[in-house]
Amino acid sequence: MKVNGDQLLEDLLTLKEFTDTPGNGVTRFSYGENDRKAREYIFRQARLLGCDIKTDALKNVRISMPQNRQGRKRVVIGSHVDTVRNGGWLDGIYGVTGGLAVLRALKDCELGMNLELAVFAEEEGSNFGSTMTGSKFIAGDYGEADLDKLKNDEGVSLRRILEEPSLSEIEDVVWDFSEVAAMLELHIEQGPVLERKGLPLGIVDAIFGMQVIEVELTGVGNHAGATPMIDRKDALCAASQCILAAEEIVRPDGRSVVTVGRIHAEPDCSNVIPEKAWFTLEVRDSDNEKILKYMERIIARIKEISTERGVACRINKTSSSKPLRLDPELIERMKSLAEAKGIPHQVMDSGAVHDACMIARHAKTGMIFVPSLGGRSHVPQENTSEKDLVLGAQFLLEITANLINA
Ligand code: GLV
Ligand code: MN
Ligand code: MN
Ligand code: MN
Repeated sequence: MKVNGDQLLEDLLTLKEFTDTPGNGVTRFSYGENDRKAREYIFRQARLLGCDIKTDALKNVRISMPQNRQGRKRVVIGSHVDTVRNGGWLDGIYGVTGGLAVLRALKDCELGMNLELAVFAEEEGSNFGSTMTGSKFIAGDYGEADLDKLKNDEGVSLRRILEEPSLSEIEDVVWDFSEVAAMLELHIEQGPVLERKGLPLGIVDAIFGMQVIEVELTGVGNHAGATPMIDRKDALCAASQCILAAEEIVRPDGRSVVTVGRIHAEPDCSNVIPEKAWFTLEVRDSDNEKILKYMERIIARIKEISTERGVACRINKTSSSKPLRLDPELIERMKSLAEAKGIPHQVMDSGAVHDACMIARHAKTGMIFVPSLGGRSHVPQENTSEKDLVLGAQFLLEITANLINA
């Protein structure tokens, strides 16, 4: 039983071209034209296998094998096809194409359980600033009301983007997890651990949780030449101080991470003192207590700095997810399989969140990592060797077969 490695690489190279930013990484936001094209490609491949394809109101997809029968539990393989802006060619889509490779390899086999490939929508949060949006609806963490709360940068709500789905269509997005025997997600590591240790395979144990806030500081806009330094209430200088203070608070921890990934100033003119500064800030760790503690300290410090500098401050908590541990039995099963196959591996944390997080609280869930070259991801340089890409997909096939025929 082998995955077709050449076909996997061809899928990945084809899908890499569905980007809004050719030559500068992959930019493929959910609900955009390139997302539609990538899905169409995946659907064509799945139809060749005789699979059934169902898309829900959020545009999450379930691709079922022709052998599937009513009333049996299913093993789900899944990941996402959307990307961050100018992201890499593997994040998310590798798990989907790896899943396709498994479906192809099992096309003519007797299956002891149903098998499905899931494509989750809007995992990156690129549109609405909230990661795992599609799988949050699947898990029931998001519902009807969130369709209006989630808005893109142009202020367009998720409800409008989805063309006003009905309440029952939204309710139908939620999975009946009693039907799910297990879920598996194959992903690139997105960090440096496996490459540094020369290991081709990671088995994920804990996934970091995160809290995200948006901060808006309002000072006084004025002439950049005529206003003495002492008379200024510069919102961007205040934001800069807040960002460095957050780094100082979290850095000594050694494990927790804090990131300001988006920032802008208004009016955004070289000769005007910024009246407004807006930035996002997220804290992540595998320990929720620490996330909450650091976030509390950072928010207190932002308020102090704002008061000291005479700028108004508004803080909005935009999204969060709790850290979690994946299924211990599945981890053991994957370890035994890797040992039996002689694949050097280690059990490790995931600093990134994944759709697997949303499923893991309801069903047995496991994640497989392959190394990221240079430990880089969410950038155009994201890469993994062909050998490791094929090895990961082959391991996914073997653990899937192991579960289905258990
Ligand atoms: C998504 O990749 C995230 O971890 O933010
Ligand atoms: Mn991903
Ligand atoms: Mn990502
Ligand atoms: Mn992710």
